[in-house]
Amino acid sequence: MNLRKRGLSVANKKTYENPDANECTRAEEMVDGKTGISENKKLENPKDEEKNSAHNVVESEEIEEQDFNSGKIIGDIANEIKGRFGVFRIKSPDIFEKCRRFRVVEKAKELRLYPYFIEFERNEGPVAYINGQKKIMLGSNNYLGLTHHPKVKEEVMKTVREYGTSATGSRFLNGTLKMHIELEEELAEFVGKEKALVFSTGYQTNLGILSALSGPNDYIICDSKCHASIIDGLELGAGKKINFRHNDIKSLYDVLSSLPSDRGKLIVVDGVYSMDGDIAPLPEIVEVARKFSARVFVDDAHGLGVLGYGGRGTANHFSIEGEVDLIMGTFSKSFASIGGFVAGEKYVIDFIQHFGRSMIFSAALPPHCVAAVRASLKIMKDNPNMAEELRKKGEAYRNELKRMGLNTGKSQTPIVPIIVGDDLPTIILWKRLFDEGIYTNCVIPPAVPQGESMLRTSIMLTHEDDHIEFALEKIYKVAKEIGLT
Ligand SMILES: Cc1ncc(COP(=O)(O)O)c(C=O)c1O
Repeated sequence: MNLRKRGLSVANKKTYENPDANECTRAEEMVDGKTGISENKKLENPKDEEKNSAHNVVESEEIEEQDFNSGKIIGDIANEIKGRFGVFRIKSPDIFEKCRRFRVVEKAKELRLYPYFIEFERNEGPVAYINGQKKIMLGSNNYLGLTHHPKVKEEVMKTVREYGTSATGSRFLNGTLKMHIELEEELAEFVGKEKALVFSTGYQTNLGILSALSGPNDYIICDSKCHASIIDGLELGAGKKINFRHNDIKSLYDVLSSLPSDRGKLIVVDGVYSMDGDIAPLPEIVEVARKFSARVFVDDAHGLGVLGYGGRGTANHFSIEGEVDLIMGTFSKSFASIGGFVAGEKYVIDFIQHFGRSMIFSAALPPHCVAAVRASLKIMKDNPNMAEELRKKGEAYRNELKRMGLNTGKSQTPIVPIIVGDDLPTIILWKRLFDEGIYTNCVIPPAVPQGESMLRTSIMLTHEDDHIEFALEKIYKVAKEIGLT
């Protein structure tokens, strides 16, 4: 990536502070150029035109700039945000009363400060369209950009023509196609395990694994930053859940040494943490696990496609596939589809297959999704350098953010948080960037602990240098405006 091209010199932080005239011209060029953000550009579809003009009427009635800045309105929202869980404690004869009193979303929408459930007209990968406006996508899990790869699309269309649109039933009964089994064989081989089992979503995969394995006499020891699907899976299981401090081996050791030696123990970690972009210290985790006869389960939703040789994931990155007992992955990230899988020794996978309720009582992954995953897997195997290229892009981007003085936490991957701290400045940073043509993910509690609110940004292999450079300029501009740098 040539960050110098537009004055974003690695050696000279000043270039962020004093963009010269030439830089301004380039930035303006980008507004109309292929990577540009045209504020008023509408989509060609006349219906979209209508939608936009309706949107503009609302905008003209929106709260004025001075109101936007007024402490009162912000304060009101802050109070509602702080009390966001209060609604669940309401006592009322009407079970819907909590819904009626849940007002914070309406207020945030009135102020155009609501960062969720945004309607995308198109998402082309590194660039997306919202309200007819182009945004650089810095908030996607499509790490390898394969959702628009011609071979993936072609395989999907061919499969729909041949197999229709649904598997029409559960894997357990009529929903298992030969292609599910073939995909399972390919995945097992890819992550270096004996057998794999495919589920219909990543979320269901974790529900299925944990509800099946967590018996009443077992302990499940989780990193405190594990994904919500793991926490929900544990609610369905009968075992006792204990957290250890995030990526803290001493804390893991202390928890394990406090548990009875004659009980089953499963350590659960993410390979790459989805918000912070840091990596689990798997070699140390495995070493402690063996001391206490505990098994190790890695949710590698964000590690597959990104870490290891050809994207084989976190265990491969550390060359310890054989020492990790279970590897789980989702297809909604690098694999350009939806679905998930777990891989491990055959007898364990056979057990999950017969006790994983989220698979047994739900319809199988549709054929075209299987086709997308198989095509993506083939591309990853045929181009083993993709993961490495992505890592380099992510590293260059992260270094630039750091150089601006922004807090990127412990990120080691193309997932790079911009940690702000409090909720409101985070939301305002999100909104200002959004207006400048950059889409990021606004992450506030409960997705992260209180005081650790952030924008989650992520780099994709298909981001061009211009996309990243444009985004960096805007991030610097806005971060400076609101006093973050
Ligand atoms: C670490 C992790 N595990 C599991 C899941 C669930 O996967 P999916 O969204 O594909 O159902 C996610 C999704 O965000 C995730 O980040």
